[in-house]
Amino acid sequence: MVIVPILHVKNLTKIFGDGCPLCPHSTGPEYETNVCKHCGSVVACSDVSFELYPGEILGIVGESGSGKSTVVNLLHFDWEVTSGEMFVQNTKMNGSININEKNLFALSSYQKRQIRNSFMGIVYQNPYLGLRMDVSSGGNIAERLIMANWRSIAMMRDRASELLEKTEIPVKRMDEPPRNFSGGMQQRVQIAKALSNNPLILLLDEVTTGLDVSVQARVLDLIRNLQREINLSIIVVSHDLGVIRLLTKRTIVMKYGRIVEIGLTDQILEDPQHPYTQILVSSQL
Ligand SMILES: Nc1ncnc2c1ncn2[C@@H]1O[C@H](COP(=O)(O)OP(=O)(O)OP(=O)(O)O)[C@@H](O)[C@H]1O
Ligand SMILES: [Mg+2]
Ligand SMILES: [Zn+2]
Repeated sequence: MVIVPILHVKNLTKIFGDGCPLCPHSTGPEYETNVCKHCGSVVACSDVSFELYPGEILGIVGESGSGKSTVVNLLHFDWEVTSGEMFVQNTKMNGSININEKNLFALSSYQKRQIRNSFMGIVYQNPYLGLRMDVSSGGNIAERLIMANWRSIAMMRDRASELLEKTEIPVKRMDEPPRNFSGGMQQRVQIAKALSNNPLILLLDEVTTGLDVSVQARVLDLIRNLQREINLSIIVVSHDLGVIRLLTKRTIVMKYGRIVEIGLTDQILEDPQHPYTQILVSSQL
């Protein structure tokens, strides 16, 4: 049986700055920089290609500045790509908009918004990007439901409390703004919000970074259960190999905006091929 990927990303590239023809040839792991010495642009990611399979949790790991958040933000259409393509293969998606075999980055911004609102969920590394801190937690979730065309206030309240319960936020705190919450709670409100529209693809950027160990364990449990219960396809970005080991079967290793290694997580951790991955693994043993 051939398993068709839900997402196929090809040659994703993002350059901050004007860019020049020499950018790709003067940045990357061989040059140990992501700044082009000819034009000064930052090559945040370059030539990143991978597939995400239905129900899979795929990891992206790499040092600070290697381009992990860039990739996730590009997939969520938060930033314009410099170049690259993204294709989805899913009957539910194709049902509402005809996007079969279309490069999603080339769609209109209206269509991109539709895809994002109906099929994607994201948890940003920085909760201030993902939440309005002064709006109630329930209101944060409702905002997203409204974008996915929900209208009944009572139904939105029900959905919000169901999600807050799932993410272990006391439902009685639903009318409080995330500003009042701890970092771990803010991440869980972001998860609740990201799940509200029943996404097919969930993007998690450093979702447990900065949380204390017990909260981290509960958030990781929650993610594993979600994947099991609703067969979500998830991309997990982390610089913590422990998180990657616990959650993922397959992992991408990035450095200076490039993929240096991609494969089964167990193999990458047991027998890293790329010198950078070897250092990364041995430094976190
Ligand atoms: N808006 C921007 N303008 C210019 N450069 C940017 C911008 N956003 C990101 N970059 C640069 O792109 C590169 C990749 O950043 P990115 O945030 O994707 O890294 P990361 O792997 O997520 O790092 P971290 O682990 O610290 O979160 C960095 O060199 C960063 O400085
Ligand atoms: Mg990041
Ligand atoms: Zn350049």
